[in-house]
Amino acid sequence: MIKFLDLHKINNRFREDFQNSFSKSLDDSRFILGNNVAKFESGYAEYCGTKYCVGTGNGLDALALILKGYIHLGKLKKGDKVIVPANTFIATVLSVLHAKLIPVLVEPNPETYNLSADLVKDQLDTDIKAIIMVHLYGQLADVESLKQLADECNLLLMEDAAQAHGAESSFNSLKAGNLSHAAAFSFYPSKNLGALGDGGAVTTNDLELAKTLRLLNNYGSEEKYTNRIIGFNSRLDDMQAAFLSIKLKALDIDNERRRTIAKAYLKGVNNSKLKLPFYDGSKNHVFYAFVIEVDDRDDFKKFLNKHHIEWLIHYPIPPHQQQALNVFSNLVLPLTEKIHKRIISLPISPVMTDRDVQTVIDLLNTY
Ligand SMILES: Cc1ncc(COP(=O)(O)O)c(C=O)c1O
Repeated sequence: MIKFLDLHKINNRFREDFQNSFSKSLDDSRFILGNNVAKFESGYAEYCGTKYCVGTGNGLDALALILKGYIHLGKLKKGDKVIVPANTFIATVLSVLHAKLIPVLVEPNPETYNLSADLVKDQLDTDIKAIIMVHLYGQLADVESLKQLADECNLLLMEDAAQAHGAESSFNSLKAGNLSHAAAFSFYPSKNLGALGDGGAVTTNDLELAKTLRLLNNYGSEEKYTNRIIGFNSRLDDMQAAFLSIKLKALDIDNERRRTIAKAYLKGVNNSKLKLPFYDGSKNHVFYAFVIEVDDRDDFKKFLNKHHIEWLIHYPIPPHQQQALNVFSNLVLPLTEKIHKRIISLPISPVMTDRDVQTVIDLLNTY
């Protein structure tokens, strides 16, 4: 069996360090906003190259809190529209709805699966005040053009970087998290930087936003039992922060391993029935997922199952066709719908062996 993602093997590499940090946390007993959160926040800001990082309970909250923070600062107001990609994990769309803003779903570039400036431009109207670009599957969106468009039209630009920890722009060598006004990260266990539970963070160079987020995520409070604004409870857990600091040291090496595997797939798989992903060979992709397209996905799934290769679909139903989002049920988004019917993700992870990679390649060439 070739696992899609062997979480046990991934985390077992850090077992001793995790156990030591757990013992220390138990001794200190500062479980909420202890030193580990502050330490991780400064380490992750430094890693991303931003001035600030604010931990949150998860990635969805990180996104929603950025938007709520901008509302608090008067930069967005109820009813403003926000551009989001139509093919993304539902969290991107939900964050906009949770902030009482209006999501405008835009079709992706079918080669990169990401937002591109020309497709966004067609949708712009005067109510649109922000763009959330998602670096889907670990590949940076069309950052330079989207940034230019946002600057020209005076729009806020945000990143949903939940799948792109460490991805680096070929244009200016800046990292995901430092390519917009504010970025949201998820540390869900399967992510390239994954905790042992839920976790998230916002990175930004905007001091006012960072200060607002520190209030919003902690009951609107700087000082215990003094509440300045109507806040939420969405803090990064202190123990998770300690685990994340340990794993952060391995992130670049792990991302490099993912790229090596992706390059091996791209070089080795030669089968006209399988469309391989676009990749420019640079560090702008950290291969959270290696997503291919196939005409008859059901048949391909059966083939993989028969040969004990695990797979996943990121994602089987696009947000606008989810029951929860029936406000979009009249939308027709042919590119997004086509992608969702054809895509399937192959195993990729930093602990996958060369032998496993070769087994997958050889097998795919027989399909
Ligand atoms: C693109 C994207 N955005 C947002 C999220 C939300 O993160 P979380 O699950 O930590 O809330 C995820 C991950 O699940 C994601 O993949």
